[in-house]
Amino acid sequence: MKFFIDSADIAAIADMAATGMVDGVTTNPSLVAKSGRNFKDLIGEICAIIDGPVSAEVTALEAGAMLAEADQLLALADNVCIKVPLTWDGLKATRQLTSNGHKVNVTLCFSANQALLAAKAGATYISPFVGRLDDIAVDGMGLIADMRQIYDNYPELETEILVASVRSSEHIKQAALLGADVATLPPDVLRALINHPLTDKGLTAFLADWQKSGQSIT
Ligand code: E4P
Repeated sequence: MKFFIDSADIAAIADMAATGMVDGVTTNPSLVAKSGRNFKDLIGEICAIIDGPVSAEVTALEAGAMLAEADQLLALADNVCIKVPLTWDGLKATRQLTSNGHKVNVTLCFSANQALLAAKAGATYISPFVGRLDDIAVDGMGLIADMRQIYDNYPELETEILVASVRSSEHIKQAALLGADVATLPPDVLRALINHPLTDKGLTAFLADWQKSGQSIT
């Protein structure tokens, strides 16, 4: 399972990239606005520190205008992945971009039928927003299960399921159990994946006993 970082915070991205666990990055207009950075400068910098795909979202609503924005973003680095919304124009732009060999992340997916359309359009990734579904009392992980089954029913659909709007470690465990291809995690959620109180307790006890032994390895 691949892990992407869902962030526009360069310091947090670099910090987590150093763990060797980061296979890519996703951004969105809200994260970019929060960063206070110039969008293109930011994407260029992220692409320089991450080898994998870096999703940069278009903001135009019409397919031709989306493609014009995509051209600008693709010029920033070889690992830019164009993010488009799940609209008919977004799907038209997706087909064009993937036919030209570019990676596309179709975002704002909330239903299995939307996921089917994105896959038929040739999306590289589809981003179902599990946390936002949970927020409205709809089972986000139920959508991932449906999508996995539908995509597996049709092996010609090669789109990867990129679980987005992740809020907790439990989301990651469930996504992995269901066979999602990728999850994009806020930095704090990735950091928290390693936590277990028995690990901390065990390490403290081992170190205390080791100190009592009076030995040193080096
Ligand atoms: C995904 O690409 C989105 O940027 C992100 O996961 C949205 O998450 P949110 O619902 O926490 O804003």
